[in-house]
Amino acid sequence: MELQQAIRQRRSIGKVLDLPVEKEKIERILESAVWAPNHHHTEPWKFFVMTGEGRRVLGSAYANAALDALDALDGMEAEEKEKRLAREEAKAMRAPVVIAAACSPSTNPRVIRSEELAAVHCAVQNMLLTAYEEGLGAVWRSGEPMQHPAMKSAFGLKNGEELVGFIYIGYPAMISPEGKRIAAKDKTFWIS
Ligand SMILES: Cc1cc2nc3c(=O)[nH]c(=O)nc-3n(C[C@H](O)[C@H](O)[C@H](O)COP(=O)(O)O)c2cc1C
Repeated sequence: MELQQAIRQRRSIGKVLDLPVEKEKIERILESAVWAPNHHHTEPWKFFVMTGEGRRVLGSAYANAALDALDALDGMEAEEKEKRLAREEAKAMRAPVVIAAACSPSTNPRVIRSEELAAVHCAVQNMLLTAYEEGLGAVWRSGEPMQHPAMKSAFGLKNGEELVGFIYIGYPAMISPEGKRIAAKDKTFWIS
C-alpha cells in the first residue's frame, strides 16, 4: 500500500466485527510500532495485547475506575449501579483485540519525559497505519478512565509509567467515514 494513501485514507473505525483477528496480523502491527522514532534510543513502549477473556482485565479496570463516581452519587439503587458497572465492563468487548500501549520512560536524567510519551504516540500511529494496511479497522481510545489508578494497577505499571492509549482492532463493521482536515497551508507559516 502507498504510504500517502495509508496516511490519508486511514480512519478511526469504532465498529468492528466480533471475529478473531489472525495473530500474525497483530504481530505485524506490533513490529511496526517499535520502528517509531525515539530520542536516545530509549524505546520506551510496552504493549498489552488482550483477546477473548483477556479483555476482562481492561473491563474490570473500566468498572473499578467508574466506582468512585458511582459511589459519589447518593441514592443510586444497587441494581442501577450494577447495570452501569456492567456497561463499563462491556466497553472492553467492543473489539476482538485491544492493545493497551504504555510509556515506560527512561530514568536517565538527560531524557525528557514528554519526548518519551511522544515516541509512544508515534508508535501508536504506526500501529493504526499498519492495521489499515492489514485490512483491519482500528481506533485509538483514551479518556479519563485511562488515567485512573485502577488502570495502572490492572496492567501492573510501575511508578512513572503511564498508559497512552487503548487500540481497539478488528475487521471493520462500518463504512469508513470521509476524512476531513484543514489544509496544511492554513496551518503553516513559512519563515525565510
Ligand atoms: C490521543 C488520542 C486519543 C483519542 N481518544 C479517543 C477516544 O477516547 N475515543 C474515540 O472514539 N476516539 C479517540 N481518538 C480518535 C479520534 O477521535 C480520531 O482520530 C479523530 O476523530 C479523527 O478521525 P480519524 O482518525 O478517522 O482521522 C483519539 C485520538 C487520539 C490521537
